[in-house]
Amino acid sequence: MATPLVAGNWKMNPPTVAEAVALAQALREPLSAAEGVERVVCPPFVALTAVADALAGSPIALGAQNVHPEPKGAFTGEVAGAMLQGVCSHVIVGHSERRHGFGETDGFVSAKVLAVLGLGMTPVLCVGETLEERDAGEASAVVERQTAAGVAGVASDDLGRVVLAYEPVWAIGTGRAATPETAQEMLGGIRAHLGRLTDSATAAQVRLLYGGSVNAANAAELAALPDVDGALVGGASLDPDAFVAIAKAFAGRA
Ligand code: 13P
Repeated sequence: MATPLVAGNWKMNPPTVAEAVALAQALREPLSAAEGVERVVCPPFVALTAVADALAGSPIALGAQNVHPEPKGAFTGEVAGAMLQGVCSHVIVGHSERRHGFGETDGFVSAKVLAVLGLGMTPVLCVGETLEERDAGEASAVVERQTAAGVAGVASDDLGRVVLAYEPVWAIGTGRAATPETAQEMLGGIRAHLGRLTDSATAAQVRLLYGGSVNAANAAELAALPDVDGALVGGASLDPDAFVAIAKAFAGRA
């Protein structure tokens, strides 16, 4: 079984670089001690190098929250993958806040996945349906479309390097996590779909994360699910005690 992975998406928090460093310092010791799980924190771009310094020599990896697929050029406000190389090992791609708040399309997300893989980093590809799509009975079709588009063009030898996070939009920041039944049904469905796109052995290598209101109280029941290989955590990743508890819940899974 693949090593589980727990990633903290700090989003546009905390408000200053100094506070980001303080959060990293608070996490450093207890999160390092939570062995048996890959641990990643994803601070805002401007805090990446300062947090990298604060975590240097620890087993905690660093991720970016976004990337532009082009290697360089006239893209005001954007950050290229090569700028992240050497600082980050992981890059979140296609988060629903980018798909829905900034109009990112499946095709744009796919280009980002390929750019991240091409630079030797790990894409954390996010998929997830809105409440309207779920209510319309379209949840599986939506995540299957996002999954297929997100890995389009990825060589099957590289697919095992992709991490896929199922984050239902209605569960993000709402305190209303998916039930274990729904999380397993959706992630099991995504794994089966990856198997149809490639083969089941390749699909088994892809780490599948659940995200959306994961907290210290619900992490253990999520970690017990067969197709949940980790968590992508928003709000609770800003609380060192909660994030460490979530990491430990998944460490126990392996
Ligand atoms: P919350 O854990 O705050 O619901 O956020 C989930 C998320 O969007 C992680 O990427």
